[in-house]
Amino acid sequence: MTDKIAYERHGDVAVLRIQNPPVNALSHEVRSGLMAGMDHAEADAGVKAVLLVGDGRAFIAGADIKEFGKTPKEPHLPDVCNRIEASPLIVVASMHGVSLGGGLEVALSAHYRTAQPDARFGLPEVHLGLIPGAGGTQRLPRVTGVEAAIDMITSGRHVKAPEALDMGVIDSIAEGDPQTVGLAHAEALLAEGATRRPVSEMPAPPPIDWDASYEAVLKKGRGQIAPAQAVRAVQASVELPFSEGLKAERQMFWDLMKTDQRQGMIHAFFSERAVSNLPELKGIEPRELAAIGVIGGGTMGAGIATAALLSGLAVTLIEMSDAAAEAAKARIAGNLAGALKRGKLSQEQHDNILNSALSLATDYAALKDSDLVIEAVFEDMDVKKSVFGDLDAICKPGTVLATNTSYLDVNEIAASTSRPGDVIGLHFFSPAHVMKLLEVVVADQTGPDVVATGFALGKRLGKISVRAGVCDGFIGNRILSTYRTAADHMILDGASPYQIDKVLTDFGFAMGPYAVADLAGLDIGWAMRKRLAPTRDPRERVGRYPDKLCEAGHFGQKTGKGFYVYEKGQRGGTPNPEVTALIEAERKERNITPRAFSDVEIVRRYMAAMVNEAAKVVGEGIARRPLDVDMVLLFGYGFPRYRGGPLKWADLVGLPDLLADIERYAEEDDYFWRPAPLLRELVADGRCFDDLNKDA
Ligand code: CAA
Repeated sequence: MTDKIAYERHGDVAVLRIQNPPVNALSHEVRSGLMAGMDHAEADAGVKAVLLVGDGRAFIAGADIKEFGKTPKEPHLPDVCNRIEASPLIVVASMHGVSLGGGLEVALSAHYRTAQPDARFGLPEVHLGLIPGAGGTQRLPRVTGVEAAIDMITSGRHVKAPEALDMGVIDSIAEGDPQTVGLAHAEALLAEGATRRPVSEMPAPPPIDWDASYEAVLKKGRGQIAPAQAVRAVQASVELPFSEGLKAERQMFWDLMKTDQRQGMIHAFFSERAVSNLPELKGIEPRELAAIGVIGGGTMGAGIATAALLSGLAVTLIEMSDAAAEAAKARIAGNLAGALKRGKLSQEQHDNILNSALSLATDYAALKDSDLVIEAVFEDMDVKKSVFGDLDAICKPGTVLATNTSYLDVNEIAASTSRPGDVIGLHFFSPAHVMKLLEVVVADQTGPDVVATGFALGKRLGKISVRAGVCDGFIGNRILSTYRTAADHMILDGASPYQIDKVLTDFGFAMGPYAVADLAGLDIGWAMRKRLAPTRDPRERVGRYPDKLCEAGHFGQKTGKGFYVYEKGQRGGTPNPEVTALIEAERKERNITPRAFSDVEIVRRYMAAMVNEAAKVVGEGIARRPLDVDMVLLFGYGFPRYRGGPLKWADLVGLPDLLADIERYAEEDDYFWRPAPLLRELVADGRCFDDLNKDA
């Protein structure tokens, strides 16, 4: 045995206690220890049953993430699971905390399972681009039936104990010390003369329409392979003898290991955790956060207030009039009702938030004791400066003054106060209580503890916080504006917005750029184009048809018409023929003979523009590392997680090829397609973006 498994004898029962803090991950030592522990128990005279139990906060959280990417060492997990199940002794698992991935597979190899009322179970392998590879797809359907197993495996969701009991994942729920409860369960089984009950010997469940299920899962995952493959693995559990099913599962597991999607998912998994890990924040204490202020109660302000209230912060919301404040409260109440419905908060918490945690005011004086104030007012520099002047006069020393601006210069805003060190950008994404991304925009004079406070707030709100430097649009909107421009150019030259949206949703984006524009409101882009018009370079190609659409009063979903027409009561829209007419008219005016774009070319140009701008953003230090850009696109812009992010995608496609594309496009338009110096540098050195992540 190893240090990681403690062996104890309690009467007829041998206890194997997993001791691998913090979450009993299945490291090599744990796997070897479980093998040795089973041998020991079987050789221990008089032992009739084995109890598997975890120390600390969890039963087993699955494979050890520290071993990812390394050559796996024997014993492999499937062998451990088969060894446990094949034991002549009765094996019981008593679970608490989480039992995830390989952890649940170990439990499914036991003959009986009991759990604490708050225990959670899941097979999250699809989030790593894989399927369970240690019998999970073969054993789970035998205890839950096919449909429940497919749901659990393809979603990777956590199932709570009561649901797990209904599904058949566990046999009982019992509250108390997991070892005491487990021993009682094992002893009761022995007393009633129970026998071994290996899941592999249970009958296979009835089949379903496999092809229909496969197609439905593939569609839902927008092209992600692992969940769809899981359907095939479950199919094998029904159609093949158990041992053959295990082999089929293992083969699919190894095939998935070799895919780009697996690499994308692993990159996302680690980057999501690395993103807030900045050397400059080491040892810096954030300022205290208990009460915050929000200025402006429109969609954005109300969303930010909702997120803060849901995290337990007290919020004072400032509006221009009592009526506007009440309207803001109604928006927040609407958001909270959604959270209540989804079970994210109790009725009591809901009432408490609306009756006491939220205060409304029309006078900035109400913010004098706030620890942090976020302004979410109209996107206009003079308006912002005036707000910050007022905040500077009223807030106590040490209050963090944050702007939610999407584009404006945070240095200029900071300079309008006497305390620029306290000023920061906290750029939320709409709806702010739902979207996971937060850009923490660090201006020239922002204090390190203010940056740490921005990250602490993000963590508290459950956001993925990414550090960004100051530039027009920061990380996300700056890159968005470039790839949207590439799409706009394709439209002028012959593509249609609908083809582009379709191709990009097929690529895996949650929505195409034109459907997104309709959702966000076309007036936003219109205002930005007007703002940028005076400083535009004459070589810039800017389509005029979107302005004409706005001039006609069409702002997208909110007016019922934009690139698409939205009929009441219908989900999504249908192409707007007026847009096609406007585009055709503009092509005529500009003497453009439209040409056909293949789907491949659309992806290539769109992604080349995205990667090129992202490389500039990293090269200029606006984003610290390529992974920061990847996380912004993943969590704020619907980039498919299984591709890891645009710079991971670029690494997988190959940087020399991408640079060659950009240089070729530059022959048509050398103003727009200027290769990023960082991209040239990486290609010259034979390196990739991920090398920079490793250097950082
Ligand atoms: N291996 C090693 N360490 C792990 C771990 C794992 N699988 N999961 C979590 N940890 C560590 C974390 O790194 C963290 O360590 P530090 O405190 O040193 O930073 C600590 O456990 C606590 O983690 P969290 O801060 O995330 O705590 P939490 O309470 O919010 O969440 C959790 C706990 C639900 C286990 C969450 O960490 C989690 O989901 N972990 C990943 C689980 C997972 O994906 N396991 C692999 C399943 S796939 C599989 O088993 C088969 C396969 O791939 C081959």
